Amino acid sequence: MCGIVGYVGSRPALDVILDGLRRLEYRGYDSAGVAVLDGAGGLAVERKAGPLANLETRLAEVGTTQFNGTTGMGHTRWATHGGPTDRNAHPHRDNAGKVAVVHNGIIENFIALRAGLEADGVELTSDTDTEATAHLVARAYDEGPTAGDLAASVRAVSRRLEGAFTLLFTHADRPGEIVAARRSSPLVVGLGDGETFLGSDVAAFIEHTRDAVELGQDQVVTITADGYTVTDFAGEPVEVKPFRVTWDLAAAEKGGHDYFMLKEIEEQPTAIADTLRGHLIDRRIVLDEQRLADADLRDVDKVFVVACGTAYHSGLLAKYAIEHWTRLPVEVELASEFRYRDPVLDRQTLVVAISQSGETMDTLEAVRHAKEQKARVLAICNTNGAQIPRESDAVLYTHAGPEIGVAATKTFTSQIAATYLVGLALAQARGTKYPDEVAREFAELEAMPAAVASALEAVDATRELAYDLALSRAVLFLGRHVGYPVALEGALKLKELAYMHAEAFAAGELKHGPIALIEQGLPVVVVMPSPKGRAVLHAKLLSNIQEITARGARTVVIAEEGDETIRPFAHHLLEVPAVPTLLQPLVSTVPLQVLAAEIARARGYDVDKPRNLAKSVTVE
Ligand code: M6R
Repeated sequence: MCGIVGYVGSRPALDVILDGLRRLEYRGYDSAGVAVLDGAGGLAVERKAGPLANLETRLAEVGTTQFNGTTGMGHTRWATHGGPTDRNAHPHRDNAGKVAVVHNGIIENFIALRAGLEADGVELTSDTDTEATAHLVARAYDEGPTAGDLAASVRAVSRRLEGAFTLLFTHADRPGEIVAARRSSPLVVGLGDGETFLGSDVAAFIEHTRDAVELGQDQVVTITADGYTVTDFAGEPVEVKPFRVTWDLAAAEKGGHDYFMLKEIEEQPTAIADTLRGHLIDRRIVLDEQRLADADLRDVDKVFVVACGTAYHSGLLAKYAIEHWTRLPVEVELASEFRYRDPVLDRQTLVVAISQSGETMDTLEAVRHAKEQKARVLAICNTNGAQIPRESDAVLYTHAGPEIGVAATKTFTSQIAATYLVGLALAQARGTKYPDEVAREFAELEAMPAAVASALEAVDATRELAYDLALSRAVLFLGRHVGYPVALEGALKLKELAYMHAEAFAAGELKHGPIALIEQGLPVVVVMPSPKGRAVLHAKLLSNIQEITARGARTVVIAEEGDETIRPFAHHLLEVPAVPTLLQPLVSTVPLQVLAAEIARARGYDVDKPRNLAKSVTVE
């Protein structure tokens, strides 16, 4: 949700910033903007509604001579307050044009701040919550106890702000310096040789350095070409821990694919293998970070899984595995609903928070609520050191690498693998599985990258089918047991990428209402259970298929290789390898991902940047 880049060094800042914005555009693409200090008191700003390409065109038209400096910052926006227009695009400036600001998050007390400024005669030129901060910092820098000190001015203003924010400020009189403040929104510092970077995530500067520092809550950082200093909002120095990014530039590039999403779909075998790697030691499951005693895990008597979107679907799958392996009751909750319904939580409750980004505000607030109620929290996250894992008692990272496509793909299947590891860790802690059983389940998981690779072989057949389905008005999805969350995920992918009406049902529910939707030619995607592993359910779904076919549905069936009984009833058959029942979602998801992406492409949409969405949702 909004991408931010900052640079201080010796290279032309504009080039570095535009490169960074290109890599961060998946965070928001409603508008983009840049600000560069020329070192002689000049502050050049350009901003443009629409994707980054519009800003680049604009810069080519107006010329970039005034952007001749080595300090600057940029922004790519997902609009919250104020529509996606030029005037609402960041950076925003104070009336004197000295201070520029870019912002990610929401400043909740903006109405009062704007009203106060207007009462003082300040002319506001946008509809945003952000602009007020530029005026406030300019004023704090000009007068009073913080005069002439940009970091102190930013700290003073930050103390007045409510909500979530990452804010970067420059002042025309202070070339060679950027000051940033952070609360509940991500910010990392990149450490180069004679140059320093700021980014919403490391993708902003991965091309230049893999050495980074993550800022904590309520901290202010000042960067110069020589390094950085961090304080809290009161000005007290703070120690921060540097880390090294484990992936490189190639991971954040398309690598010959037409779009990131297809690359990321194809990376799933590696992502799953990397997620599992090193987590079984001496027939014991080990997590990445555990700030919990083993006894705490053993004493868990109830599990809640909280997550949003695709991560929520991986949580639904976790329920099948965790309940089956541990006999613990598991409830799966949309993070956005969790804290508003007063769930029953105590010290023996384990809350598993699943988030690719680790910064989704709904999930973060659910974690905070759980902790206030004394529950233990275990995070499953794809982003090292993000806020959700930082605030959790235990962490298991998915090692899927950067996911640039807005639609979650490899992180979904990696999350499934990770939640199953959590299930096994709980089973071992509670003694519901012996070490050799844990090792056996782990071995089955370890066989999955090869199975997913084989599922990927059907990409071309799926692509052809996609072109066939692209003109449909709507698509329904059916599944049962673990096939039901897969159906939900397939429908979500189609909605977000192809903007088609897509809805998933547990197939058993058909006769309770949804069958009324079936009409001549309506495509219905059916995720079949295994005829061997779930024979009873297989037979029931076969009947459902006949019921809908009789009413005119056109069936697209995802079925296990060798399932001959399904052939006569499937208009289109997409086969996936036979795997153990609980692991079937890892393979049956693949054709649904490809289908959604290719239907979107056939309809002429940008697969990596679907409309109205952003990769990280850092607002509630
Ligand atoms: O970063 P998170 O996993 O917390 O994100 C949760 C959802 O916003 C995310 O999965 C979203 O639903 C995806 N765009 C779906 O493809």
